[in-house]
Amino acid sequence: MHILDLIIKKREHQKLTKEEISFFVQGVTDGTLPDYQISALLMAIFLNGMDAEEITHLTMDMANSGARFDLSAVQGFKVDKHSTGGVADTTTLILAPLVASVGVPVVKMSGRGLGFSGGTIDKLESIPGFCVSVDEAQAIALAQKSHLVLMGQTENLTPADKKLYALRDVTGTVESLPLIAASIMSKKIAAGANGIVLDVKCGSGAFMKTLEDAQALARIMVEIGKRVGQKVSAVISGMDQPLGSHIGNSLEVMEAISILRGEVGGDLLEVALLLGAHMLLLAERAETIAEGKALLQQQIANGQGLAKLRELLIQQGGNPAVLEDFSLLPLSPCTHILTAAQDGYLTKINTAKIGQAAQATGAGRVYKEQPLDYGAGIIMKKRLGDIITKGEPLAVLYSATEERCASAGNILADALTISDTPMPLPPLVLDTISYRQSE
Ligand code: URA
Repeated sequence: MHILDLIIKKREHQKLTKEEISFFVQGVTDGTLPDYQISALLMAIFLNGMDAEEITHLTMDMANSGARFDLSAVQGFKVDKHSTGGVADTTTLILAPLVASVGVPVVKMSGRGLGFSGGTIDKLESIPGFCVSVDEAQAIALAQKSHLVLMGQTENLTPADKKLYALRDVTGTVESLPLIAASIMSKKIAAGANGIVLDVKCGSGAFMKTLEDAQALARIMVEIGKRVGQKVSAVISGMDQPLGSHIGNSLEVMEAISILRGEVGGDLLEVALLLGAHMLLLAERAETIAEGKALLQQQIANGQGLAKLRELLIQQGGNPAVLEDFSLLPLSPCTHILTAAQDGYLTKINTAKIGQAAQATGAGRVYKEQPLDYGAGIIMKKRLGDIITKGEPLAVLYSATEERCASAGNILADALTISDTPMPLPPLVLDTISYRQSE
């Protein structure tokens, strides 16, 4: 077999066989294929696509390219969750303790943020002492004890994805449905859970800008799950404004804690409850979404969700006192209040730009190895549809220097549109694709 034949085949819109896809992934993993030929095939896939069978083979070969987690020693139906990435999208920190608190094990590997979307691992690392480096044996022991582990990806998880993603990043082939689906699903399958809930973000602050694209991605990932015998459900949720009000690493931890304390509600809580309820449905811990949501809400009201987060912090070295005292979390010293230049209604938010403003405060990375300012970020004071009075605060920015605050403030001001007449609010949840529907 020769890689050139595969490139020409895909260039000519032909389907690759299981053996050809395995040959490709093997060559990517062991380094025998040169980057220029891998890149050429990636571009051919980007332009001409793959069908469900090809994407499933690619996913499984990528999942098997490194060591897979074996969680069989942990009793119960293990659930995982993945978000395709958004702004102020802190659902994991809320739903993982809630779901684990009703006895459903959550062993979740998360990534770091790059670009305008934040990463759960970075948020967790803003908690003094919290350790995200956990190996398989430790993860099993912690999950057996507390049902909850939040950890970084292990070194040898899906090496083929690491190589392919790095090449996609520099060859204009990131935004490809088959490649995104295989990349996400290979990592989730290798991480060893029995069921996966996907939060596919759609809107101005997401990879997928249109509902059609988000639905296509959600459908193919649910379909891959079905073909490999794994329960997968996908929720398509709106990203036409930041999900929560706090953007930035320690700021998002504070908002998640406030929600688990029962002090704050809103869209972030709504989406966290919905995704958590889907996880309970997969684990057969609830029969309906309404029942699942009610159960999780009860875990907020009775303090069990917060208690589970405390357990997580203690077992992974984080200071549990942050749950009562936010002054123990980092907060950058310089602040800037962005005020409204006119009266009206907040009618449009360019969410990607808000993410860029947060990046400019120091909360996000522009390049992969960039160190983060954990205490930097933005607290939004207004949401879409709100009535705005000239001169009132729209947001507060936190950064290490006045200059950073001011330049992030300029980007933020540019992201918000205030108009004389109100506009209809975008829906929070646009669609749900369940493994049950595709049966
Ligand atoms: N997230 C991933 O893990 N992979 C992609 O290709 C895109 C988003």
